[in-house]
Amino acid sequence: MVVTTATEQPGSKHNVQAARQAYYDKAAKFHMAPLWEVLKALVTPEPKTSCLPAIWKFSDVKRLMLEAGDVITAEEAERRVLVLENPGEAGKSRITNSLFAGIQLILPGEIAEVHQHTASAIRFVLEGEGAYTAVEGEKSQMKHGDFIITANWAPHDHGNPGKEPVMWLDVLDLPTINHFETSFAIHPDERMQKTNHADGDSFARYASGVLPDGAPAHLNRSPVINYPYAKMRPILQRLKDTGDIDKRHGARVRYANPINGGPVLPTMGAYLALLPKGFKGEPYRSTDGTVFAVAEGRGTTVVDGKPLEWGVNDVFVVPPWKRYQHIAGEEAVLFSISDKPAQEALGIWREGN
Ligand SMILES: [Fe+2]
Repeated sequence: MVVTTATEQPGSKHNVQAARQAYYDKAAKFHMAPLWEVLKALVTPEPKTSCLPAIWKFSDVKRLMLEAGDVITAEEAERRVLVLENPGEAGKSRITNSLFAGIQLILPGEIAEVHQHTASAIRFVLEGEGAYTAVEGEKSQMKHGDFIITANWAPHDHGNPGKEPVMWLDVLDLPTINHFETSFAIHPDERMQKTNHADGDSFARYASGVLPDGAPAHLNRSPVINYPYAKMRPILQRLKDTGDIDKRHGARVRYANPINGGPVLPTMGAYLALLPKGFKGEPYRSTDGTVFAVAEGRGTTVVDGKPLEWGVNDVFVVPPWKRYQHIAGEEAVLFSISDKPAQEALGIWREGN
């Protein structure tokens, strides 16, 4: 029996809410919940994100990374990396909802031992020379602007027989892999893998307009280990010289899998773009939250009304569906990487202005 007061009639708002809550409590005991209470938050008319636009200045990154060299060895850390945490997602080890980013440091004489994992990784080399990354038997020297790929389950280790600290940007699809709860990893017995391919071998074999006869017709990741900056930079110059300059992105190339022309990895895709001096890009937005690293020059990217002023080796992030615009006072080169290939495979990628 329901008791009502003079001011609270049966069917009043209060009664309805109480009855609903009692029903929700009952359903919760059977691990069920009303969709209608959360529907608007689940099916939003536009993408919503808690990620924020953010920039990591290389002067801060370098100082903190070199201090990390004082407090932990590469061997102790397994990988001496400072995670670039999105300020809207603190504590979650991610720069966007789908991507991890970090800065890795390897000091002269150090090695980072071989391991394998289901998460795919890329390196974009920032500062220092003399270090190498070995991937699937190819030992690749790391130079500023080089783009190095470590695909799903590819064995990889790093070493620095040189004389100076070497730092690079790591981007991994870790949050994506962990979203699917499909992370595996192993540490082989040896500290360094045996390398039997010379530096540049996979680029020479696969990225020169020919393919080794008998190369697989289908491969969902690039067989190229390193796309050297020294080979990419002149292509940007050619595009610029002939006026092939996108109004939003500048003179831009997409790193491609030479087997099928697709992205370098199924979960991550990358670009390299030259912004000519005085470039004022048209506004752009897309559903793939994007990580940028500055290879050359200085400029500003306005993200959702917030100016991010960048210089060489700075890293910044544009969250999904936030409008952005590049402005370059001097000629600049930007590397960028996102989860666009994964979104395209799922048919959910969109762009706009
Ligand atoms: Fe790794």
